[in-house]
Parts: sequence; structure tokens; C-alpha cells
Amino acid sequence: MKQENRFYITTPIYYPSDNLHIGHAYTTVAADCVARFKRMQGMEVFYLTGTDEHGQKIEKVAREHGKQPIEYVDGIVSNIKKLWDTLLITNNDFIRTSEARHQEVVQKLFQKVYDQGDIYISEYEGWYCTPCETFFTERQLQEGKCPDCGREVELIKEESYFFRMGKYAGQLLEHIENNPDFIQPPSRRNEVVSFIKQGLEDLCVSRTTFSWGVPVPFNDKHVVYVWFDALINYLSAIGYTSDEDLFNKFWPADIHLMAKDILRFHAIIWPTMLMAAGLPLPRKVFAHGWIMLEGGKMSKSKGNVIDPVELTSKYGIDAVRYYLVKELSFGQDGMYSEELLVNRINSDLANDLGNLISRTTAMIIRYFDGNLPAADITEPVDAELKEAARTAYEEATEKLDNLDFSAYVIAVLKLVSRANKYIDETEPWKLAKQEESKARLATVMYNLAECIRIALLLLAPTMPTLPGRANQQINLFDDIEHLRWEEAGKWGLARPGTQAVKGESLFPRIDWKAVNKDEAQTVTDVAPKQEAPSPNPAPVQEKEYISIDDFARLDLRVAEVTACEKMPKADKLLILKVKLGEEERTVVSGIAQHYQPEDLIGKKVVLVANLKPTKLRGVLSEGMILAASDANTVEVLFVDSDIESGNRVK
Ligand code: MSP
Repeated sequence: MKQENRFYITTPIYYPSDNLHIGHAYTTVAADCVARFKRMQGMEVFYLTGTDEHGQKIEKVAREHGKQPIEYVDGIVSNIKKLWDTLLITNNDFIRTSEARHQEVVQKLFQKVYDQGDIYISEYEGWYCTPCETFFTERQLQEGKCPDCGREVELIKEESYFFRMGKYAGQLLEHIENNPDFIQPPSRRNEVVSFIKQGLEDLCVSRTTFSWGVPVPFNDKHVVYVWFDALINYLSAIGYTSDEDLFNKFWPADIHLMAKDILRFHAIIWPTMLMAAGLPLPRKVFAHGWIMLEGGKMSKSKGNVIDPVELTSKYGIDAVRYYLVKELSFGQDGMYSEELLVNRINSDLANDLGNLISRTTAMIIRYFDGNLPAADITEPVDAELKEAARTAYEEATEKLDNLDFSAYVIAVLKLVSRANKYIDETEPWKLAKQEESKARLATVMYNLAECIRIALLLLAPTMPTLPGRANQQINLFDDIEHLRWEEAGKWGLARPGTQAVKGESLFPRIDWKAVNKDEAQTVTDVAPKQEAPSPNPAPVQEKEYISIDDFARLDLRVAEVTACEKMPKADKLLILKVKLGEEERTVVSGIAQHYQPEDLIGKKVVLVANLKPTKLRGVLSEGMILAASDANTVEVLFVDSDIESGNRVK
């Protein structure tokens, strides 16, 4: 019996027909995030990835390069291993299907299933898609092409061995029914169920028209069908038939992670093979969505691929991993764009997380000579902050357990935002002015350090170098190599007296315009060196100057609000009547969640008076009032003086 503190997670083994792209990196980083999370929870984890090296496709590509298949794949496999090193993937093994340890298991299993009568010889006649390495019937084709990838298929007719897959259909349906978690997400499970219900045919499991594969043990004219061969990697890598202890330690797998393109192989073919072999089924088969590019799914043959190595050298490992983990909502597809990646780095990492850390560090240095003080004076707002930390821990744990990666990251970001807001609410720079509020200031610093500690722990599976880098500025972890997840669920573990020192910005802002011009640049001084009164100070961008004439084109006027009401059926809009000297105007403004009409009536504001009028919910808005804002607050700019409305602001 497998013990509950052992955890086995796999990625698909990738085809080494070419170098991998960020789609493959997505699965591998996501699985790594789970593996690290489980290790932080104290589990013994076996994380497996590898390469699927046999089959017609690889043989063909190698031939096109004038190489023997093994010679060709060796080169690609070495690139793949380097890629995983670059991305700090913590796989415990890397299985290659060309290895003897794997081939032996494939032959043994083939023989076993044959001996019990579940494999028989016959003739296959039908269609084959080489890029997908999949058999199709005439009926399954779409307009004569592969229904999965849309490419040409070839008609093949050859002697083949068949696996009695159909025999196991009922048993499989029953298993799916009794184990609702087996195929996830639920929408995909329904697809699989209806596929099985249409009737499962026996599966062709050998080929004779090429030789790059595992020979059928009792008939060397045949090589084992590449999918039958490949799926067995999940057993061969953990010593099935060769290392009983290892095998019993980790089988059944806890999660086979993949994208939806290959779910059918894992949710139908693989379980029926295991049933035939008399082995327990994996606990969960999870299919995530695709990272798409304009023009569809990324693929080498379409030429629309993104190289993960290039991205990490431009933006750093933590940032690229963060982007990938956050990118796909539960089971959904997501659109890749480098600009979006840069936006995420700038907003989530530089502005929110990076700033929280650098401002807190700067304040501890400035107000307490770099020694983290103890917390003494508690106020009601602290309870809210602690509650936010507890919720972040609980939600992050639950979402990661459900493989809802983006929701997990968002749960942590909520804590980061809450902590930034706490700085706003507690106004440490004011507390610092009076000796009697020093103890309260100390508590505020301690609470911020706690939020940082918790956020860093929760983000460690995604951004593995972050806790170490942050620790050089605010020393919150004694043993950076052995971070413990459960410590994110406890408040008060930061040690008073711990040292804070000034350091480099953890997430330098990226100047997208410069990147676009192919000169990747980072603006390093975005994080304020000292604490600043505003939680998210306007980021320092590379300056793009405008002339005074450009500015003069804006007609900014003092305007007096004479009337104001809420826009019916709109939460965010107010309708204002304003006076500019003798002139009356109507302005619709999206500030209803921050101001009541009576807050504005009688006040003078700044109006962009020459903005093209536009209709909002049927009301013509003749200008725009100016306001400062951050993620949480909006502050209208008032003109507090006797200056008459209608005067210019310049
Ligand atoms: N060799 C088979 C798998 C055998 S597993 C026993 C194979 N290889 S593959 O190289 O084509 O990899 C497919 C997998 O790569 C997908 O299931 C997914 O995990 C990952 N991805 C490839 N492109 C992807 C995207 N554009 N988006 C998300 N994941 C992607 O199929």
C-alpha cells in the first residue's frame, strides 16, 4: 500500500522532434510548482518528466536531418535537459524511452498482456496522423484531415497487433463514475465519458512499416505502437518489475498532468492498459488548457513558437515562471503575449510585491536601524490584516491542491494588496513623527514583515529564487533550503531583531517600449529607496518628453460642481453639473464608488474642457474631471481656493 505522505507527479514525456517551447514549459513549470508545494508540506515527492523518442515522426525528422534517430534525439534531449535546469525544474528523474530500462518494461508488459489473450494479431486498415502519432477511422476524419491537428493523414494497411481495449470500456466507465476526481477538470471528464460511450474499438498497438521503436518481444517484424510504448514510462521510471520498493513507494501516480490534446490517451488508453496489466489506476489525470498565440496553438510546424530560454534571459526565471503559472485559468486556454508578461511583471511583481518588500525594508532601516521590532500595540485594523493572511494561506493551499494555478497566485496577491493598503491606513510616516507612537510603529513594521514572510512562502513553489533573494534584504528565513508550507499558516513567526538591509530591486520594472525595440532594459529605480507616503508610487518610466505646445493643447479649467446625482442602474457613475464661469456642462465620472454626490456639490475640481464629448449610458459627457488613483482609492483633485470657476489650470 502506498503511504499517504508519498506523492508521484508526472508531465507528458515530450517528443524530441525539435526544441521545446513555452507550451511545454507551462506543463513542466506547473508540475514543478506542485512538486515543490508538496515537498514544502513535508511529503516525499517523485517528480518525473522525460522524452518520447520512438515512432514514425522522430524517424522521419532524423532522416530529414541526415542523422540516425538516436543521434538526432540525443542533441535535442540535451537541450531539453538544459531548459529544465534553466527553469529550475526539480524533477527526480528524466526518462528517455530509448533507454534499456524502459524498453525492457515495455516488452514485459506487452508479453504479459499478449499471454493473457488481450493482444491478438490482425490487419489494420485506416488512417494515420504522423505528427500526432494517432490512428483514425474514416468517420473520425474532418474534411479528410486529422481531427486533432488538421494536417494530412495517410492511409495505412498493415499487419498489426491489437489490444482488446473495448473489453475494458465498462470497467473504465464504472471507475470514472466512482472516482469523480479521476479525470479533471469536470468538463473534460464529461467529454471522455461520452467518447467511451460511443463505443471503444480495439487499439492497434504495433507497426511494421518502420523500425524506430521497441521490438515486439515475440515478433521482431513489429515495433510497439509509440503511444503504447510511451505511456509505460510512468511505470518504468519508478522501477516496475525491477525495483519493487521504489515502485510500491510511488505507484499509483497522484497526478498525470498534461494539456487537453493528449487527455484521451491518458484517460482511456492508459487506464485500460493498466487494467489489463492488473495494476491500480493513477489517482488523477488533469488536463489544462493551451497557451495560444495569434494564429492558434503554438506549434513548430506553424512557426509560431516562443523560446523559453530567450524569455528567461530577458526577464529572469522567477518572473517567467510566475507568468506561466498565473497565465491559464483552471482548464481554460490563455493567449500568450510578451506585452502581457511585461505588464504582469510591472504590476504584480514590481509595483505590488516588490514595492511592499522594498518599502517595508526601507522603513525598518530608517525607523529602527534595520532591526525588526516586536509587536506590542495592536489596533483593530491588524485583525483584518491577519485575517487576510490566514485566508491567503487557506485559499492558496486549496487552489494548489486542485491545480487551479492562477487562482492560487491571485489568492497570494490579495494578501500583498491588503498589506500595501495597510501601509496607507496606518501611515507609518506620521507615526514616526511622534515618540509616543513609536510602539505602534513597531507593531506596524512587524505586521508588514509577517505578511511578507507569508507571501514569500506561498509564492516559493512558483518563484523558487525569490525567498533567498528577499532574505538578503529582510532576513525572515533561517533555513532557506527547507521552507515549510505550514509556516505560512501561522502568524508571529518572524523573529524580532532580524536584520533588514537595503538591496537591489527584486523585480526591476521593464520598459516595454525599449524591449520592443529589441533593447531589453529595466528601470531599476522604481522601488522607492525610502518609504513613501503613497503605497504604489507612480512607476518611473523611461521619459518620453512632450513639448510645452503639446501640453498647451489641453484645456484644463477650474470647474464648480453645482449638482450631482448617481447614474441610474450604474454602480460606478455619477452625473455632475459643472459651471465654468458662465458656461454650464454635464460630466459623467466613474467615481461613484469613492464619492457620494454631497461630497462633491459646491466643490471646485479640475476639468479637461476640450475632451471630445462622448455619450456614457445615454448621457452626453462634456469633459473629464481629474483624479489621482491607485489600486484601491480614487482622489479627485479639488481646488481649495477662492479662484473663480472657468480659470485655466496650467
Ligand atoms: N509524446 C507525447 C506525450 C506522451 S506522454 C506518455 C506528446 N508530446 S508533445 O511533445 O507533443 O507534448 C504535448 C504536451 O506538451 C501537451 O499535452 C502539454 O502538456 C504540452 N504543450 C505543448 N504545447 C502546449 C501549449 N501550447 N499550451 C499548453 N501546453 C502545451 O504529446
